[in-house]
Amino acid sequence: MTKRIQVAIDGPAAAGKSTIAKKTAELLGYTYVDTGAMYRAITYKAIRLNIDLQDGEKLTKLLHDTTIDLKPSPKGQLVFLDDVEVTEEIRSTEVTSSVSAVSAHADLREEMVKRQVKMGKDGGIVMDGRDIGTHVLTNAELKIFMSASVEERANRRYLDNQKRGIHTSLEELIEEIALRDKLDSEREASPLTQAADAIYIDTTSLSIEEVSEQIMQLAKERMV
Ligand code: CDP
Ligand code: CDP
Repeated sequence: MTKRIQVAIDGPAAAGKSTIAKKTAELLGYTYVDTGAMYRAITYKAIRLNIDLQDGEKLTKLLHDTTIDLKPSPKGQLVFLDDVEVTEEIRSTEVTSSVSAVSAHADLREEMVKRQVKMGKDGGIVMDGRDIGTHVLTNAELKIFMSASVEERANRRYLDNQKRGIHTSLEELIEEIALRDKLDSEREASPLTQAADAIYIDTTSLSIEEVSEQIMQLAKERMV
């Protein structure tokens, strides 16, 4: 029988993590967990409640009183915040520009990581984020760190936004992504960094299929 492994995928914004993680989970029949959506959901709630995003204690308390559920559907993964669907709302520009501040709080991260460890404990999971290989699925059989040039990532987001009817210039996206990269990489609490045992993939000039094939090959080698 093949082993149901843990796959951890980390990297900066628009590197292709969620697209590839979703596809890998589908191909393997595993559960997909988008941890970025969890940080986005609590950020969305905090903004709506007008909570000071620098107040880590308040935000952590808020998280303790909040349920965040990720549910698969034919349309993709749906995000529920206290049982209300917020899949689209958490992708707003306002949430995107505030999420790095919220996710920098160590106590809040500790609670998130606790929930994510529980989700992944039985294997058969593909989880993507920033600290999955380093703090969440630390014993994952397969750890990937993927990236691409900031221009390529901004261009990908630009095309995504166009499809969703959101108009942001390429220059603004380069700026937003570069700033988020910086905040996520330089924060004290579990910053975005490649785990020592992660495999690095530069997706700048690779198609989704090419990246997916590489990862499926690596996963299969680890399932026996
Ligand atoms: O999809 P995109 O790459 O734009 O971002 P995301 O994966 O939805 O993550 C949004 C933000 O949540 C990141 O910029 C990080 O600040 C934070 N995050 C984190 O700190 N740790 C994670 N495991 C996942 C996301
Ligand atoms: O999750 P993350 O923010 O890392 O990126 P994503 O949302 O999966 O990917 C951003 C966009 O880039 C999506 O529209 C993907 O289809 C596209 N993409 C691509 O064009 N080439 C790749 N090798 C990977 C993703």
